[in-house]
Amino acid sequence: MDASSEKEDRKDEAALQLDANGNLRHLLTLNGVDKALLIDILDDAERYLTAPGSIPSRSQSLAGRTIANLFFEPSTRTRASFDLAGKRLGADVLNLDVNTSSRKKGESILDTIYTLEAMQVDVMVVRDASAGVPAYIANHVLDHVSILNAGEADVSHPTQGLLDLLTIRQHKGGFENLKVAIIGDIRHSRVAMSTSQGLMTLGVGELRLISPRALAPDPETVPGAHILDNLADGIAGADVVMALRIQRERIGNLDGIPAIDEYFANFGISQERLKSAARDVIVMHPGPMNRGIEIESAVADGPNSVITQQVTNGVAIRMAVLERVSRIMAAQ
Ligand code: CP
Repeated sequence: MDASSEKEDRKDEAALQLDANGNLRHLLTLNGVDKALLIDILDDAERYLTAPGSIPSRSQSLAGRTIANLFFEPSTRTRASFDLAGKRLGADVLNLDVNTSSRKKGESILDTIYTLEAMQVDVMVVRDASAGVPAYIANHVLDHVSILNAGEADVSHPTQGLLDLLTIRQHKGGFENLKVAIIGDIRHSRVAMSTSQGLMTLGVGELRLISPRALAPDPETVPGAHILDNLADGIAGADVVMALRIQRERIGNLDGIPAIDEYFANFGISQERLKSAARDVIVMHPGPMNRGIEIESAVADGPNSVITQQVTNGVAIRMAVLERVSRIMAAQ
């Protein structure tokens, strides 16, 4: 596939996820999602949040609906939160164990999807190591079925992007005056892509993407962002600092990738490094964390960390997205 046709496909993907009235039918990408829809989803998610220790918010808005979690790559946070989100909305939730499924006997992904459709599954939550899989499935399902991208190769992780936006808004009130620094393996990070897309749409003041040169993104994938290879410059005055792990599972050739000690010395977020950020900086990490490599434990567990709040927000965001796509099913 050449670069121009890949771009065309991405444009089609943004259109594919909306119905004729502009309502969300699938969630495949944050690229092309307009500001109003992003804010509506964040507002909906706020309504599902309850105080720590209280009984989580529940409704029956998805009663009678069936959600299937299809994770063809490992996950803790995304899978567990989609599971809880579906159950808290009253849906039946099926967690397919991919390792013992008939995919292992050579069944194609589409035959797996058609099999679940025949069991009247309404929403399929898909994580896959190959780019394009969520959109490919979305192009083949029945009209009432929704596909939610739960992590697509190094391309997209839209619900993670939304929960990051929600967490930033809770602490900073908005985006326009913020300096946001995302640090780590930007090139292979679907989180960096989705969060950056959402931040740019919401008018973030300044977005800095900081990494060793070997892990820098293609500038065309993040228009408007400042791409840096020096952490001191990237972190200075930042209101939001997000650390990312090195995605070793996506890196074929480790040439040019710093060894662990060198990486922490140059790109790890330590208490010392954080002193040059804004006084009220928040520290984020999508997880899973590799403590002592991209982030020091004292920072991950420290007073500026909002990492566990990101996890809490993940359930609320997934409830908001599930509820939103179910409105289209109800209208059919
Ligand atoms: N952030 C994230 O996607 O975490 P999991 O891989 O645990 O789902």
